[in-house]
Order: sequence, then structure tokens, then C-alpha cells
Amino acid sequence: MNFSSDTSAPAHPAVLEALLKANTGAASSYGADKVTQRLRARLAEVFEADEFDFWLVASGTAANALALACFCPPTSSIICHREAHIQMDERGAPEFFTGGGKLHLMDGEGAKIDFDPLKDYLDDFDPRNVHATPPAVLSLTNLTECGRAYTPAEIARLAQRAKYASLAVHLDGARLGNALAHTGATPAEMTWKAGVDVLTLGLTKTGAIGCEIILLFGAAKSKGRELQARAKRAGHMPAKMRFLAAQAEAMLEGGLWLQLAAHANAMAQKVAAAFVEDGHDLAWPVEGNEIFVTLDEQAFNDLQEDGAQFYEWPGGSHRFVCSWATTQKDIDDLAASLGRSMRR
Ligand SMILES: Cc1ncc(COP(=O)(O)O)c(C=O)c1O
Repeated sequence: MNFSSDTSAPAHPAVLEALLKANTGAASSYGADKVTQRLRARLAEVFEADEFDFWLVASGTAANALALACFCPPTSSIICHREAHIQMDERGAPEFFTGGGKLHLMDGEGAKIDFDPLKDYLDDFDPRNVHATPPAVLSLTNLTECGRAYTPAEIARLAQRAKYASLAVHLDGARLGNALAHTGATPAEMTWKAGVDVLTLGLTKTGAIGCEIILLFGAAKSKGRELQARAKRAGHMPAKMRFLAAQAEAMLEGGLWLQLAAHANAMAQKVAAAFVEDGHDLAWPVEGNEIFVTLDEQAFNDLQEDGAQFYEWPGGSHRFVCSWATTQKDIDDLAASLGRSMRR
């Protein structure tokens, strides 16, 4: 009953098989190998994109910080939600990698940025005021930190306003697969077609060992060399890049990442149903693989006693996360534990 995080899940066997396949003979280093080249073609297909560039790193924090640094000068800011991972959980990496760029925090329910305050802020911002920090990037997260899914239309509306103010648009897609599985949108619809310039696509939570892809779409492709240079300087230029590319290739092959995300989402619906049946309130609608539920002390203690693993979450709720590896038995065990707790 490990619902602590999708990062607690093992790697999918297809990823391990791909690593073994890539482990034959010598290959060019630093991304010049055949597997990384094949991945370019696969990404073009998956994202229906002709114009793009990409880079591979092993952590989401590195992906976000490197991506943002390409678009935010040290004297500018990145607009993000108050609860965004880049604000709450990256130990100042975006500020560090941008060389001092500031995060400008916005509000919105379910960790989604509200359109009106964003519009008001951008309308009112006076670029002639040398004392104020001009925004350079709008950063959105899908799934959000509350497990909510933006639709492509919601992203497009925010992105359009941001672009009107000449901002670049970044999407933290640590759980993009889950958002796509929930909304039914295509990867292209959720990203560059909605105005996203730079995507950090997480595959680690979906089933890889450690593989995050930074994608630069359309005109943002011109930042490709800068991204590489920044990755090198930051120590994120893996010499044996083929092993990161092999993970990505395995995940994208035949839409595996979306199938795994859909499984995790379906399991999350079952977890949510078990809580609701047991009389607990969900903090947010479940739109992906994360469940935020408010547990009373009794249920909290009983679940822990029965070995359930989950996190207490800021704001008073408890977070349960499903993954590709969550089984019906995990759900049954959780429901049984909740049932026992109710009878005590
Ligand atoms: C929204 C979001 N972005 C990025 C990350 C990536 O973090 P890490 O550096 O742990 O791979 C996470 C992981 O929890 C996340 O939830």
C-alpha cells in the first residue's frame, strides 16, 4: 500500500529492456548516438512538430531550472502559482540557474493560475519602472500541484495573454501524461498548439528510471544551443546520453507513457471512490493520479498502522498517489483498512 508518490514506483520493464538493448557496443557520446537521434524522430511524431529542439536530463528540477534560465534574464521574473513545484520544492534552483531571476507568485484554486489576476498584473505592469522586476516567463504546471488538470483551452487563454506581454510560456509537465489521459487532449494540443514555448516533460513519474525531456517548440528552438551550453555548465550533459534516450524511447513507443498514465489515473479514481464511500472529503476533484483527502485522526492513525504510505500535505489534507504499478490489491487493501477503521 505505497501511495507515497509515483516516484516510489519501480521502473517499467519496457524501460529496463530498452536499456539492455541500448547497451551493445560503443556509441557516440553526448547525444550524438543513434538512440538519441531516433528519439528526435519519435518526438516529432508524438508532438506533431517539425520545429523543435530537445535535451535530456535525469531530474525534473534540473529540467525546469535549465528551461527557465533560457528565457528569464537575471533581472526579470517568472510568473508561477504560489504552490508551484518551482516555488515550493526546488530549493531555489530556478533563481540559481537564472542567476537571480525572481519568482512572481500568483493565486488560483487547485494551483491553477486564475486568468483575471494574471491579466490585471500584466495590464498594470509598467516596464518603464526601473524598480520593478519585469516578467519574462509564465510557468504553468499540468497536472497542477493539487492534481488538477488544465485543459488546452485554459492553457491557451493564459498563454495568449502572456504572449501579448511578450512573455515566454513554460509548462512543467512532470505529470503531463496524466493530464493528457484525463483530458483526452493530444500532446500537441496541450503544448505548442496552446502557446507553450518550452515544455519539461516528465517520464520518471510515469515509469522511467530517471528521464525528463526539455522541449523547445517553434521559434523557441533558437534557444537550443543556449540550453546545451547551460546544461553543460550545470553538469547536466550526460556522456552516455543513449541510456536516457533509450528510456524515453521505450516510454513513448506505442503510446506506453499514456497507457501507464491512464492506468494510474484509473487507480486514483478507485482510491478516491474508496475514501468517498468511507465518508471522507476530497480536497480536490481527482483529475489525474493524485488524491488529496482530509483524514480525521482516527483514520490517519489506522491507515498508518495498517502500513499505508502517504504524505501529510500543506493545508491539512493527505496526498495519495497512484502509479503504473498500483494494483487492484493495493486498492482492496486500502478499502479494507478504511473499513476496519470505521468499525473501530
Ligand atoms: C510538478 C513537479 N515538477 C517537477 C518535479 C520534479 O522533481 P524532481 O527534481 O524530484 O525530479 C516534481 C516532482 O515531484 C513535480 O511534482
